[in-house]
Amino acid sequence: MATVRTSIHGYWSSRFAFVLAAAGSAVGLGNIWKFPYMAGENGGGAFVLLYLICIALFGLPVMMSEVLLGRRGRSSPVNTMTTLAAEEKRSRVWRLLGLMGVLAGFLILSYYSVIAGWALAYVLETATGTFSGVSGEQAGEVFDNLISNPRRLLFWHSVFILLTMVVVIRGVNKGLETAVRILMPALFILIIIMIGYAMLHGDFLESLKFLFAPDFSKLSPEVVLKAMGQAFFSLSLGMGAIMMYGSYLPDDASIATTSFQVAIADTLIAILAGLAIFPIVLANGLEAGQGPGLIFNTLPLAFGQMTGGLIFGTLFFILLVFAAWTSAISLIEPAVAWLVEKFSISRFISSIICGLVAWTVGLGTVYSFNSWKKIDVFDGTILEGKSFFDLLDYLTSNIMLPLGGILICIFAAWLMSEKSRRDELKIKYEVAYKLWRFLARYLTPIGVVLIFLHVLGVLEKLNIT
Ligand code: TRP
Repeated sequence: MATVRTSIHGYWSSRFAFVLAAAGSAVGLGNIWKFPYMAGENGGGAFVLLYLICIALFGLPVMMSEVLLGRRGRSSPVNTMTTLAAEEKRSRVWRLLGLMGVLAGFLILSYYSVIAGWALAYVLETATGTFSGVSGEQAGEVFDNLISNPRRLLFWHSVFILLTMVVVIRGVNKGLETAVRILMPALFILIIIMIGYAMLHGDFLESLKFLFAPDFSKLSPEVVLKAMGQAFFSLSLGMGAIMMYGSYLPDDASIATTSFQVAIADTLIAILAGLAIFPIVLANGLEAGQGPGLIFNTLPLAFGQMTGGLIFGTLFFILLVFAAWTSAISLIEPAVAWLVEKFSISRFISSIICGLVAWTVGLGTVYSFNSWKKIDVFDGTILEGKSFFDLLDYLTSNIMLPLGGILICIFAAWLMSEKSRRDELKIKYEVAYKLWRFLARYLTPIGVVLIFLHVLGVLEKLNIT
């Protein structure tokens, strides 16, 4: 029997709409901007392999658990956890899981928006021909000029927050669904075009080696943690975004199938982005480990040289903005929905409040790339040299999301009654159900905890590894 609860915020019009929206949330800067530079910084193949393992072993079970809780609770993650904890006679403390998600959403959106602002600025740069025929060095200068200018960053950050709020105000239904339906396929096609260019003009073979031939000497506990964090970040897991989207999912849609489709789409786009970027990096002797500026320093080179580069380039950055847009919405939707439920305020007011908060926290990231490159109080500690942006990124991706993920698994696979779980998942094949339950009960929580302990050096001290 399905639950009788209903969502006051609306529903997706179909199963397919949910897949599109969830894929729209998952596919974003994480795939096109972050994945390539993380792979570049952490030694390529070994990182990519770990990332893929984390997607399969942690990502899928967590995603299914999130959708499961969301659809059963039918409200914002805070209230979903409150309702479900009461229903399953568990402690009210579980609502804190929802609150941690709201906090993580704000923190991530605050810097996500600044980076999306770079993409916005690049739409203009590319369209006005800044990159035609540039050298690697010149392209680097354009980027440095952008990030060293807090005013420009602030301007584009503000524009992006505004864009996000406009869609959130209108509600999840129409605006989002239609946008995603057209833009996701367009993005896909453009990335394929980029790969075509990279194959012809870049060092494609070398980049295949870089991305897929693991060099295990590059591995360290930190790299494992980062690959795991990237898997959670890229799939939008661990903070309630997918739980929120799950709460709008029609009762008859299969959670396993839809989750699988979203994970495949997301992983594919990340790998394709890597294949579009590294041939250019390697052929032009650019630094693979240069960090967050990677795609902004490499792709313009390609656009500057290819025929029709002005158009393709402009289109590419527009689509990147759209990919970021559909992700940003999911970062703030849980907070907006929660305020609406809690204070009975309108969606409009709630969106404005949330937008202002995210915008304000974002100032920390705006200055992280220029006047406030490192936080002095950390001098002499392991955090020395880290900027506000570095810290936010580390804290959210590597700690909050995996932690949220295992708590979600523990609630869904241990604390809910077997009947509630089965009712909601409705998995036809017993083996598949048992597999999910095994992964969510044992493998994901234990795996994530072991990775945490490994980084803290606890395992080494106990002589376990
Ligand atoms: N997954 C998105 C990306 O790859 C970012 C994102 C959207 C996200 N919603 C999220 C990350 C929720 C973590 C949690 O760009």
